[in-house]
Amino acid sequence: MKKLGTKLNKRLNLADQMVLIAIFLAFLYWALESFLNVFSPEEINFYRQIFGPNVSEIWMRLIVICLFMIFGSHVQYTINKRKQAEMDLLESYRKLQNARLATILGLAKLAEYRDEGTGTHLERIREYSKIIAEEMVKNPRHADHITPEYIDDIYQSSILHDIGKVGIPDAILLKPDKLTDEEFDVIKRHTNLGGDAITAIESQIEGQSFLALGKEIAYNHHEKWDGSGYPRGLTGEGIPLSARIIALADVYDALTTERFYKDAYSHKRSRQIILDLKGTHFDPEVVDVFLALEDEFNRIRLENLEDETELMKPLEQAVASY
Ligand SMILES: [Fe+2]
Ligand SMILES: [Fe+2]
Repeated sequence: MKKLGTKLNKRLNLADQMVLIAIFLAFLYWALESFLNVFSPEEINFYRQIFGPNVSEIWMRLIVICLFMIFGSHVQYTINKRKQAEMDLLESYRKLQNARLATILGLAKLAEYRDEGTGTHLERIREYSKIIAEEMVKNPRHADHITPEYIDDIYQSSILHDIGKVGIPDAILLKPDKLTDEEFDVIKRHTNLGGDAITAIESQIEGQSFLALGKEIAYNHHEKWDGSGYPRGLTGEGIPLSARIIALADVYDALTTERFYKDAYSHKRSRQIILDLKGTHFDPEVVDVFLALEDEFNRIRLENLEDETELMKPLEQAVASY
């Protein structure tokens, strides 16, 4: 019985409940009037003294109360419905956004798999870039530029930095020996290829600010502070901040992980290499932020390496069974 009551209660929305209360009050009035008819005029006068000079006023009051309650309940019902519709809309937007981001991560991974294996390079890059941006915003100089939206965008868009590699032939991209100058010129093209690809996507999707930042990063992540980078040889603050951040995150990850052309360096050795490149390859301020956060960098590196080992386990077992 209790279960039925709860079930019924769930099925009845607020408006239905209010209508039922109104019907109940109307019934109450009818019962009251019938009750009064039983009594003599003297007795009725006694009740008139309690309820007022005119008993029929109670009638009117009850009707007005009922009408207000019905009206109020409908207003409440409409508000609730609108709130629910807004929440549903937000939820679908969030799901759509997640689907888009997952698709983009998938595409970025396809580009990454070609020369950096099946690891979690992109996942680490976005963590490194996020913590650098969060630390840099503490400097009032960046307060206007690094907004919470910027931090979110750099987290999402950093994974697109090397998407242009899909346009580089395997023979050059995977060449274990030293590249010739001509081959290196081909490698350099991945920056413009990636930037152009994101520009094309951006023109098809409105309101995706992370694509604007992704484009900036893809074009400029190989620029160097002293102007010796590529593709345009930009210098200092002429290089977008996002690209200066990703440049350090990308190199730190390349140094600390195994690649087909090198073993993984320790955090200490990688730290020293980055420090030596302060003011030449890297923005000195970004290097200082890296030094302030080096424990965090090391923690993210170790955590992801553990994840990678876990990911590889079934593969190793499968290979071992052949
Ligand atoms: Fe790159
Ligand atoms: Fe990379």
